[in-house]
Amino acid sequence: MKKVVVITGASSGIGLSIAKLLSSNNITVYNLSRTAPKEDAINFIECDVTKKEMLINAFQKIYEKEHQIDVVINNAGMGIGGSVELEKSENIKKIIDVNLFGVFNTTQVAIPYLRESEGKIINIGSMGGEYPLPFQAFYSATKSAIQSFSSALGNELRPFKVKVSCVMPGEVKTDFTKNRIKQETTSDTVYGERIANGIKKMEKYEQNGMSPDKIAKKVFKIIKQKNPPVVCTVGATWKFLRFLKRILPNKLIDKVVFKLYGN
Ligand SMILES: NC(=O)c1ccc[n+]([C@@H]2O[C@H](COP(=O)([O-])OP(=O)(O)OC[C@H]3O[C@@H](n4cnc5c(N)ncnc54)[C@H](OP(=O)(O)O)[C@@H]3O)[C@@H](O)[C@H]2O)c1
Repeated sequence: MKKVVVITGASSGIGLSIAKLLSSNNITVYNLSRTAPKEDAINFIECDVTKKEMLINAFQKIYEKEHQIDVVINNAGMGIGGSVELEKSENIKKIIDVNLFGVFNTTQVAIPYLRESEGKIINIGSMGGEYPLPFQAFYSATKSAIQSFSSALGNELRPFKVKVSCVMPGEVKTDFTKNRIKQETTSDTVYGERIANGIKKMEKYEQNGMSPDKIAKKVFKIIKQKNPPVVCTVGATWKFLRFLKRILPNKLIDKVVFKLYGN
């Protein structure tokens, strides 16, 4: 039987690449986002992940049509860049709403369907959660939380044979860079040019980052795996950085991160 996969935020970037790869591999894909993707092959249901009612309705609609939901991919997300001290509360609330409540809402709505199908939840975290970055503190915090949420959830759902994985990409070339909410920075604050420099560097790495197709391939692999990893990244460099994180002292890692993004 054809697998049915629901992806949040597949109107662009990583989500769209995943949706395209899956639908070209005979998988029925539903994208839940606020705007429609430019791909006809992907079923679209308008949905804001911060609004639980919209998610409940979307999942009901999909189940009525397909009679099964096998995989749910929590991909929708956003970034904000700037100092902790100067960030507006409304932006902090927004990122928590999308990156955390979006995942929590979707997961709560999805679990009953996935218990029935003995399916999978795949959460898109970030290496920013593993290596928290200055001037991306709120983003890093949401992605660290997704990592720990995924591990805890995996054990809650283990007896139901629902598998949970967290994929933590490094920098990926998508509209994420353009969509990031950036703090208005001026050099006359105590941070001087540090905020602008840190964000500029990150943006440069993102725009030279890997193709979202690589993340899509990893997600497709996880969908096919009987025992997928609980937490993983994509690409040799990022795998090596995860390894370093485990063997090097935190003090040293923080110093290197400061040199790269904090100066
Ligand atoms: N790009 C990177 O370097 C990178 C690295 C690590 C992790 N990630 C993670 O990868 C995921 C996808 O990001 P991306 O790089 O593909 O960025 P993107 O191109 O900006 O895509 C973000 C997606 O999220 C959706 N979205 C945002 N807010 C939403 C909401 N309230 N409700 C429903 N959908 C919403 C957007 O759709 P609509 O605007 O149509 O709603 C869009 O489809 C994010 O979780 C991000 O944190 C990205």
